[in-house]
Amino acid sequence: MKASLIERGFCFGENGLTTIEAPSLRPIYWRDGVVALLDQTRLPEEEVWLELRDYRDVVEAIREMRIRGAPAIGVAGAYAVAMAASEVSEHAQDDFIGELEEAAKDIEEARPTGANLAWAVRRMMAVARNGDRPQTAVEALIAEAARIQDEDEEANRAIGRFGAELIRQGSGVLTHCNAGALATGGYGTALGVIKTAWAGGKIKQVYATETRALFQGSRLTAWELQRESISVTVLPDSAAGQLMRRGRVQAVIVGADRIAANGDVANKIGTYSLAVLAKENRLPFYVAAPTSTIDMSLPSGESIPIEERTPTEVTHAGTTRVVPERTDVFNFAFDVTPHKYVAAIVTEAGVARPPYDRQLAGAVQASGG
Ligand code: MRU
Repeated sequence: MKASLIERGFCFGENGLTTIEAPSLRPIYWRDGVVALLDQTRLPEEEVWLELRDYRDVVEAIREMRIRGAPAIGVAGAYAVAMAASEVSEHAQDDFIGELEEAAKDIEEARPTGANLAWAVRRMMAVARNGDRPQTAVEALIAEAARIQDEDEEANRAIGRFGAELIRQGSGVLTHCNAGALATGGYGTALGVIKTAWAGGKIKQVYATETRALFQGSRLTAWELQRESISVTVLPDSAAGQLMRRGRVQAVIVGADRIAANGDVANKIGTYSLAVLAKENRLPFYVAAPTSTIDMSLPSGESIPIEERTPTEVTHAGTTRVVPERTDVFNFAFDVTPHKYVAAIVTEAGVARPPYDRQLAGAVQASGG
C-alpha cells in the first residue's frame, strides 16, 4: 500500500494533510483526489493517517480493517468509486461505465456482511450512469461521496437524539465493538446515542466489552470515549453476565452491520450472546443504525452473508501467539441476533418497535430509500 505517515491529531487542511486539527472526529477525509484515513489497526498506541491515491489501496485498507464499521466502510467505498472513476476517465472515454463497473465490483466485494458498502456503491454507480461525459461524472461522484459522508453524520446525530430518549436517568450502559465516529461518517450510531445521553446527564457509566478477536471495544471505543471525556470501563467479553447480575447495567446498545426486513440484526460476533444475557436479566437491548444499514431485500437474518476471517486474528493477540500451533479456529466476524431479543431499533427516522416489518419499511421510505 502506498501510504505516508501524517502527524498525530491532524487531518486534511487547505495546504495538505497536516494543517488543520480535526473539528470533530471523522475516520476518513477526501481532498484533491486523495483519501486520508485514520489507521484503526494502529490505535490506541498511535494516531496515524494514511494518504491513499489509488482506489485499490482503499479496498485493501477496508479488507485489512484499517477502516471498519459498516457505515464508515460505505463512505470509504464511495470515495473509492470516485477515485476509480477519475482513473478510468483518463483513458476509457468509450467504455467509461463498463470499466468503472469492474472497479465497483472489486470495491463492493471488499467486505461482505455490512449493508452500507453495497448500498453506497449502488448509489455512486447510479450517479455515474447519469453523467453525460466522464469528466462531469467524476465531479458529480466526488460530490456524491462527500454527501454520503455528511448525510451519515447527520443521521447519526438524529439517532443520538432519538436514542437518548430511551436511556433512563443514572444508567449504566453497556456497548459492544465500536459503533462510534470511527465506525461511521462521523459521531457514531450506538456511541452517538451514548454521547447524546451523556451530554444530557443521563448516563452514570459506560461499559465497553473488549470485543475479541480484534479488540474494537478496548482499543477503539475506550479511545474514542476517553477523547470526549466520557467515563468508560472496559471488561472482558465473558464478564458481561456478571456485570448485569451485579445491577451495574440498565441498558445495552449496539450498532449493526446489516438489519433484515424482520428486524434480525447482524453485528459484531458476541452481540447475540449479549442480547440473550440482556433478556435473561430483564434489560432492554437496543440497536442503533442508519436506514442505509437496513436491507429490505432480506426477509430475515438467515440469508445475511457472514464473513469468516483469518485464524490469526484468534491465534494471536497483537504479535503474540496465544493458541498452540495447528489448532482449529472458529473466526466468524459477525453473528445474527433474532429480532425477538431487540427492544427497539433506532434510526434517523425515529424509534422502531416490534413487530418490525412495517416500521422498518416505513423508516426506509421516510429516509428516501
Ligand atoms: O468488523 P468490524 O469492526 O467492521 O465490525 C464493526 C461492527 O460490528 C460495528 O459494531 C458495526 O459495524 C456497527 S458500526 C456503526
